[in-house]
Amino acid sequence: MGSALFLSIDQGTTSSRAALYDTSGHQVACCGAPLECRYPADGWVEQDPEAIWQSQLAALHQLEGSISEEQRRAVAACGIANQRETTVLWRRGSGEPLAPAIVWQDGRTAALCTEWKRQGLEEALRQRTGLLVDPYFSASKIVWSLREHPAVAAAATAGQLCFGTVDSWLLWRLCGRHATDCSNASRTLLMDLEQLQWAGDLAAALGVPEQALPELLPSQAPFGSIAAGLPFAGVPITAMLGDQQAATLGQSCLQVGEGKCTYGTGAFLVINTGATIQRSSAGLLSTVGWTDAAGKPTYCLEGSLFNAGTAIQWLRDGLHLIERSDQVNGLAAACSSSGGVMLVPAFTGWGTPHWDPYARGLLIGLTRDTGPAQIARATLEGIALAVATLVELAERALGAPLQELAADGGAAAADLLLQAQADATGVPVRRRADLESTSRGVALLAGVQAGLLPGLEAWSALASAPGARRFEPTLGPLQRQAWSRRWHGAVERSLHWQE
Ligand code: G3P
Repeated sequence: MGSALFLSIDQGTTSSRAALYDTSGHQVACCGAPLECRYPADGWVEQDPEAIWQSQLAALHQLEGSISEEQRRAVAACGIANQRETTVLWRRGSGEPLAPAIVWQDGRTAALCTEWKRQGLEEALRQRTGLLVDPYFSASKIVWSLREHPAVAAAATAGQLCFGTVDSWLLWRLCGRHATDCSNASRTLLMDLEQLQWAGDLAAALGVPEQALPELLPSQAPFGSIAAGLPFAGVPITAMLGDQQAATLGQSCLQVGEGKCTYGTGAFLVINTGATIQRSSAGLLSTVGWTDAAGKPTYCLEGSLFNAGTAIQWLRDGLHLIERSDQVNGLAAACSSSGGVMLVPAFTGWGTPHWDPYARGLLIGLTRDTGPAQIARATLEGIALAVATLVELAERALGAPLQELAADGGAAAADLLLQAQADATGVPVRRRADLESTSRGVALLAGVQAGLLPGLEAWSALASAPGARRFEPTLGPLQRQAWSRRWHGAVERSLHWQE
């Protein structure tokens, strides 16, 4: 038992990873492969479903090739974590993708969402699903594809259409089962948050064929085994989770009120609210964290920022200010202040709190002194200021201040980002040595379901392992307020830009 290893699959928006964890929660090996997004029109973000699968497969092959025979034999269970909401449609039977995957950041369904709001559907959707009407969630992506792709509509008519978020798509390819878990389903706008069942009436009202929806299982469940001929063939898949929920588990946010922020492609603040569905009227989402093997849910409150790592990628690929993303901290450190420059990272619109798919990014406060360093610093500060709003709203909804914010994800490696985060919120920010909380979280759940770990607390002690760092706030309340006022002024200017 002590030598068992757990395989995690972490399929994110810009890369696919595969990693192995031992029973004490330490990462034994990790491999990754990049994944491209396409931007065919303003506000559109697509991926090729086949490319999603191939990049994940490449990561799994690499990982299997990098470990010893003995380690391979020790792999006892697998968990899948994934970019959420991204919508894949394929033909039952052949498994052939019927349309490009519409990525969670895609805003093409803004007009459809306005149509649904005009039809007065928003209140019922909010009440039943804990979400709101926005292109972010899967439902409008499905309906758009049914309207625009004849092959999708024909498959639906023939009862041959399969819809899945990326977890389902990978599961289908790994073991031929069409299923999802409650945490992913809670991001579709189609699941009843209390019943933890598909809301058939809502699906019918929106025009989503219920037949196309995957089987809905707890996050911990015997999903199937990896098929022969694939890397890690025979390993049972025992957990599936949306990546942000997996990171919440990986950060050991197991008590009510504990929360984390993952700085990946976007930045997502997720706070454990236990058995209670905490509702928000301020644009936070109520969502499923995970469900145990008996289906008992832990709920979370979430604030979603759509662009965080993408803003850094823009500095790299759009402006060519850096060659690698990890150089952003060094560039930003070349100046002592952003000199009043602000970058509002609303490249694909706003999630929490504005839910404005028509907003666009903004760079403001430029002077003749502004150079690459100030722009890099303003980018890190813009991410931190946007997340500070999420923290403030969550504190208000929960009626208590956050004691500490756990940070993870690739961009959390930037010290200046986390220092700005502590300054913008007034809350200390804690970073572990290992930033891969998503992989760790789903590996933990897979190990628990396999009966090889005693419970979700098994890896809690890792939070204070050597290499962790805490960022303390350095701004006084007045300075913080002035900074925040300026920020909100800039954000106002970004709203409704493309309407
Ligand atoms: O909701 C979208 C989120 O799951 C994307 O995660 O890791 O690609 O930033 P990531």
